[in-house]
Amino acid sequence: MKDIILLGATGSIGSQTLDIIDKNPHLYTLKAFSFGHNINKALEIIEKFKPLMVCTPFDDCYEEIKRLTNILVTKSLEEVSSFETGNPYVVNAIVGIDGLIPTITAIKKNRVLLLANKESLVMAGELVNQLLDEHNSVIVPIDSEHSALYQLLHKEYHSTVKKLIITASGGALRDYPIEKLNNVKAQDALKHPNWQMGAKITIDSATMINKVFELIEAHYLFRFSIDSIKAVMDRRSIVHALVEMENGMVAYHQAQNDMHLPIEYALQYPDSIDFNLANELVEANQVMERCHLEELDINRFKVLKLAKHVIETKGFSGVILTTINDIFVDKFLKDECGFLDIENNIFKYLNIYEDKFKDLEYNIENIIKVKELIIKEVNKK
Ligand SMILES: NC(=O)c1ccc[n+]([C@@H]2O[C@H](COP(=O)([O-])OP(=O)(O)OC[C@H]3O[C@@H](n4cnc5c(N)ncnc54)[C@H](OP(=O)(O)O)[C@@H]3O)[C@@H](O)[C@H]2O)c1
Repeated sequence: MKDIILLGATGSIGSQTLDIIDKNPHLYTLKAFSFGHNINKALEIIEKFKPLMVCTPFDDCYEEIKRLTNILVTKSLEEVSSFETGNPYVVNAIVGIDGLIPTITAIKKNRVLLLANKESLVMAGELVNQLLDEHNSVIVPIDSEHSALYQLLHKEYHSTVKKLIITASGGALRDYPIEKLNNVKAQDALKHPNWQMGAKITIDSATMINKVFELIEAHYLFRFSIDSIKAVMDRRSIVHALVEMENGMVAYHQAQNDMHLPIEYALQYPDSIDFNLANELVEANQVMERCHLEELDINRFKVLKLAKHVIETKGFSGVILTTINDIFVDKFLKDECGFLDIENNIFKYLNIYEDKFKDLEYNIENIIKVKELIIKEVNKK
C-alpha cells in the first residue's frame, strides 16, 4: 500500500490523481493533502478519502478549514510534505513558485517525489540535483513529455541517445495573427486546443513559457546538456517526446493526451507499466514527416531562447523567470495587463534582476528571499 501525500489536491493534476486513488483503494491511500483557496473541494476530499492531515498556507482558509474539520490542520507545506507515514509518496501538483518548498522537503526526507510542479526545477534545478545526490530520494516526472522521455530513456537501444526532443502543441494562440496578440484576452488564451489544464499552465502554453520551463526541466531531470534538448510542434499532442540516437535512429513516445496516464505511471513506481503506443524506430531524417511534427517558429516564440539563457546564466535567472511569469500571468488573468506584457516584462526584469543578484550566494534561503523581494518590488510599481 502506498501512502499518498497530495499537494495541490484541488487542482487539475490533483483531481486526476484523486481519480486514480479512488479507483485503486487496494493500492493507494490518501494520508494528507494540501489546497489553496478551494475550501468546498477540500471538504469533499476530507469526507471522501478520510485523510489524517490537511494543509493550506493561506490564513483565512486555514482558520475556516480548522473550524469545519477535526483532522490535523497545518499552514506549513513543509510539515504536510514531511507527514510521517509508512510508505510515503509525495505528489507535488502545486502550481507556480510555491511548489519549491515541498520539492526540497520531500527530497531531504528521502521520499519518492512524483513531480508535476516544473517551476521548482526551473528555480532550483541545480540545488535539487545536489540534494538528490546526497539523499535516498527519487523524482518521477508527471509532466507528459518528461514521463515520455523517462520511459524512452529506460529502454535498451543499440546506440547511445544523443538528443532529447519534446513536443509542444503551440497553445491556444498558435495560429493567431502576431499583430493582434496584444488584444488577446484571458478567455481566448485559455482555449487550449488539446488539453484541459489549470489556468496558469494554459496561459504558459499560449506564451510558450511552458516549453521553456520544460526544456529546463528536461535538462535537470535527465542531466543532458541544454544544447542536446529541443522542442518541436505536434499540433495533436499525441507524440509527447522522442530520443535521437548516434546511429541516426529515433524512438518516440505516442499516447492519448490524457494526464491520468503519466500520473498513474508515476504512482506505480517502481513497477510502472509503459503506456507508449509506438515501439518502432524511425530514421531521424523521416521523423518530422512520419510523426506530423513541425519546427517551432523562434521569431514568433521569442521566449524559447530563454531555456539556454537560464541554464547558462545560472544563479537566480530561473527564479526571476518563474517569479515574473507568475506575477504577470496572474495580472493577465485578472485583465490587469496585456498578453504580450507577460513576455515583455520577463525580458525586462531578467535584465534588471540578474544584474542586481549576480553576486548573491545561490542557495535555497536566498532563492526564497529573492522571490519575495521581486514580488514586493514589482507589485508596488
Ligand atoms: N494540468 C495539467 O495538465 C498539467 C500538466 C503538466 C504539468 N502540470 C504542472 O502541474 C502543476 C499544477 O498544475 P494544475 O494545472 O494542476 O494547476 P491548478 O489546476 O491551477 O491547481 C493548482 C493547485 O495548487 C493549489 N495552489 C495554488 N496556489 C497555491 C499556493 N500559493 N500555495 C499552495 N497551493 C496552491 C491550488 O489550490 P486551490 O485550487 O484550492 O486554490 C490547486 O490545488 C503546475 O506546475 C503545472 O505546470 C500541469
